[in-house]
Amino acid sequence: MEKQLLRLNVNDQNYEIYINPKTLLVEAIRDHIELTGTKRGCDTVSCGACTVVVDDMAVKACSVLAVQAEGTKILTSEGLEVNGKLAPIQKAFLDEGAFQCGFCTSGMLMSSVAFLNETKKPTEKEIRDGIEGNICRCTGYNSIVRAIDSVAKGKYTEDKV
Ligand code: FES
Ligand code: FES
Repeated sequence: MEKQLLRLNVNDQNYEIYINPKTLLVEAIRDHIELTGTKRGCDTVSCGACTVVVDDMAVKACSVLAVQAEGTKILTSEGLEVNGKLAPIQKAFLDEGAFQCGFCTSGMLMSSVAFLNETKKPTEKEIRDGIEGNICRCTGYNSIVRAIDSVAKGKYTEDKV
């Protein structure tokens, strides 16, 4: 199949890549743009490890074609840190020890960012519902929920989410 030029904006940077039109967004991000923080953990759109934020919405990057993301603004875990300063959600994950193997963490962070952008004072249930598309096999989720809750409660208000 003939490759086509695709322009993607990822973490406020413009990329031009030549891809097969059937390339998934997760493949474009990892294999062509070489941002490998975004993980691919399943073939069934169930694990959430590939989650990125597209125009402020959490999107499983294995569930959409890269061409569908043209013209959008994509945020990956590499884009959370600004000028060497961790984003609040990253600090909170560190403070709460909200990871073990770390495989789910990038996707979990991006789901958290999208969730917190649209839910300002979430209950614990809302937080758990907000990350239900992301599977973590290590932590038991409580530390992740605490991390999201601490950001929602303004523990890191001096920084952006
Ligand atoms: S890789 Fe598992 S949901 Fe995308
Ligand atoms: S920290 Fe290992 S899967 Fe979540």
